[in-house]
Amino acid sequence: MDLTALLENKIALVTGSSRGIGKEIAHLFAKNGANVILHGIIEDHCQETAQDIKKITGITPLIIAADISDYSQIDQMFRDIFKKFKRLDLLVNNAGVLEDRLIGMISADNIDKIFSVNTFGTLHCLQLAARLMRKSTAPSIINLSSIIGIEGAVGQTAYAASKAAVIGITKSAAKELGPQGIRVNALAPGLIETDMIKHLSENKVAAHLENTPLGRLGLPEEVAKAALFLASDLSSFVTGQTIQVDGGLRV
Ligand SMILES: NC(=O)c1ccc[n+]([C@@H]2O[C@H](COP(=O)([O-])OP(=O)(O)OC[C@H]3O[C@@H](n4cnc5c(N)ncnc54)[C@H](OP(=O)(O)O)[C@@H]3O)[C@@H](O)[C@H]2O)c1
Repeated sequence: MDLTALLENKIALVTGSSRGIGKEIAHLFAKNGANVILHGIIEDHCQETAQDIKKITGITPLIIAADISDYSQIDQMFRDIFKKFKRLDLLVNNAGVLEDRLIGMISADNIDKIFSVNTFGTLHCLQLAARLMRKSTAPSIINLSSIIGIEGAVGQTAYAASKAAVIGITKSAAKELGPQGIRVNALAPGLIETDMIKHLSENKVAAHLENTPLGRLGLPEEVAKAALFLASDLSSFVTGQTIQVDGGLRV
């Protein structure tokens, strides 16, 4: 098996691939031969990722701009993918938002925003992708949950709920789509060095590291390697699972 071409000829959509974990997943998928479709709220956000991928593959990837909290924009994104490629092999539901609020301070707007991106956006993309995956030979869907969706965290009740729901979506979809050959798995990262965690206080990060046997934050490329496993034939008999990429936090 050629371990640098694990995704040869696969058409892959990585949502939220303008930066952070999504950007690294898009890179690694492209390095492994996938034809990656980049996605962000606006096209300009993905230009840097697109240029980096062009350096690796010689091909400028398609960028689709869509607000994942808006169903009509998601629907249009999948229509565009169908028009250009006629099928989809891989979907990484990575776009996500985090807003910390203590109980009593969580507004209806906070809940709407967090759930519409992290949970409803994931579910809408999964449904629309499943239709385009009928013509795929080894389709795989990877949903980004979080260790917070399993363990919970102070100040992150709404986020935790939105990410716990992603695990429920993953298990149900794995059961329902398995007979069609579509595998559905989730990743639950611990703290990963991206923009998303920049607002966390030193004390909060230090407390997290104390409970992390590997004693450091994770890197976006370390989550990408787990996504590559779930996207490729290396995990051909794995579905409905949530893999923690957290340095041993829950051990
Ligand atoms: N970092 C961590 O410690 C950590 C831990 C566990 C789980 N996760 C999960 O991993 C995923 C990636 O996180 P990250 O740390 O890489 O985050 P990030 O650096 O903040 O990047 C978030 C990505 O999501 C996109 N996005 C956000 N809202 C969107 C919307 N309404 N419509 C379309 N795209 C939207 C952003 O696009 P724009 O650039 O266009 O804004 C960006 O590409 C998220 O689902 C997150 O919850 C992260």
